[in-house]
Amino acid sequence: MAAPAVLQMVTGGIAAYKACWLTRLLVQAGFSVRVAMTAAAQRFVSPLTFRVLSQHPVATDLWGEGQTQPLDHIEYARGCAVAVVAPATANILAKAAAGLADDIVSTLLLAYEGPLIVAPAMNDAMLRHPATRANLACLRQRGVIVVEPAEGFLACGTHAEGRLAAPEAILAAVEAAARTAPVRPVPDGSVAAVADRWAGQRVVVTAGPTHEPIDAVRYIANRSTGVFGFAIAADAAARGARVTLIAGPTALDAPAGVEGFVRVRTAEQLAAAVREALAAGADWLFMAAAVADYAPEQVEMGKLRKESLGTSWNLALRRTPDILGDVVNPDRKEGLRVVGFALETGEVLERAAKKLKAKGMDFVVANDPTAPGAGFGDGVHRAWLLGPAGQLWDSGPSSKRAIACGLLDRLAALTGKDGAA
Ligand code: CTP
Repeated sequence: MAAPAVLQMVTGGIAAYKACWLTRLLVQAGFSVRVAMTAAAQRFVSPLTFRVLSQHPVATDLWGEGQTQPLDHIEYARGCAVAVVAPATANILAKAAAGLADDIVSTLLLAYEGPLIVAPAMNDAMLRHPATRANLACLRQRGVIVVEPAEGFLACGTHAEGRLAAPEAILAAVEAAARTAPVRPVPDGSVAAVADRWAGQRVVVTAGPTHEPIDAVRYIANRSTGVFGFAIAADAAARGARVTLIAGPTALDAPAGVEGFVRVRTAEQLAAAVREALAAGADWLFMAAAVADYAPEQVEMGKLRKESLGTSWNLALRRTPDILGDVVNPDRKEGLRVVGFALETGEVLERAAKKLKAKGMDFVVANDPTAPGAGFGDGVHRAWLLGPAGQLWDSGPSSKRAIACGLLDRLAALTGKDGAA
């Protein structure tokens, strides 16, 4: 799927330096970012910074006389799924409310027809001014999303409201707006799922590693961080699915909007939680958890000591329940779709296809954490979706969040609301 394009507009306030970080976050989240800057913004940060971060020319003026090549501002605005002004000065809010178009950013704002987010940042007195408040109210009334400024230390030396919201909060607003932006045709010609494919679907997601205790202080673990499973749960919830997320030990917080959040530690506990969640009724199971295949045969209540273990230690292990094979498949309810995950190092697609068959999955998401550029946790990854007939989708290099989003788009397109395929 082509990366959705975001139009990021930067206006002239000291918070413009934080807009660089927002560009970075947007790119990491899988967006293709086009930046436009007012002349005042360019006094604070160089367009070069944004050109390097976004890997695209930056629109700096209406006439193509600035530091970048000439750009057709109408075209520039047209191709974008979401637009965001961050930081938004009192001046640009006034221009946007009035419909003025006397520079590149205000002209783009007038030409742009999609979802718009503004993140104001200014001195607290300017923010309180009735004119600014009226302008913000007017924009809100037109459907513009306002990411409220935070309270904190302002460049003018006061501690007050007016600070640009955290770039992470602005990113979340862009991601939410991108999800509800009009569905566009996907490159292979099929039309991406009707927007509400996931609405009301009961989705169970497992994520993260399991910890298998050896004694009171030691356990067997793996390097899974849970990021991918949490991203799937968050995205499905944002699309209106009723999500139960069952998570092994991770540092991640429950994503917004999930209906159920169950913390487990061991493979046994995960198996029990999956059984319970499926018994309550589910349309989809995403088994993204990296379940330990073996656990210590005996768990010592206290701490094992070197004196009793000696110079070498053979730890006896037993197989843990195979959750897909032993728990899900034996009494699998009609209508449940199972998406398994295969983490492979080498012969990724072949091995994943074998797992799909062996474990009775409907789909399998294959990935290789040792592939160049891939790895555990955040960063760039690549995944492939396979069905019984073979490969269905290649995410290309992307963030886990963007892959999760593409995966749900693709599964929706493949299965349809009527339950086909
Ligand atoms: N899985 C499971 N129960 C287990 C282990 C894994 O349900 N005890 C699920 C995983 O959540 C994943 C799929 O099975 O969706 C494949 O996991 P993976 O660890 O790659 O497969 P294994 O069958 O454990 O194969 P391997 O021999 O490669 O370890």
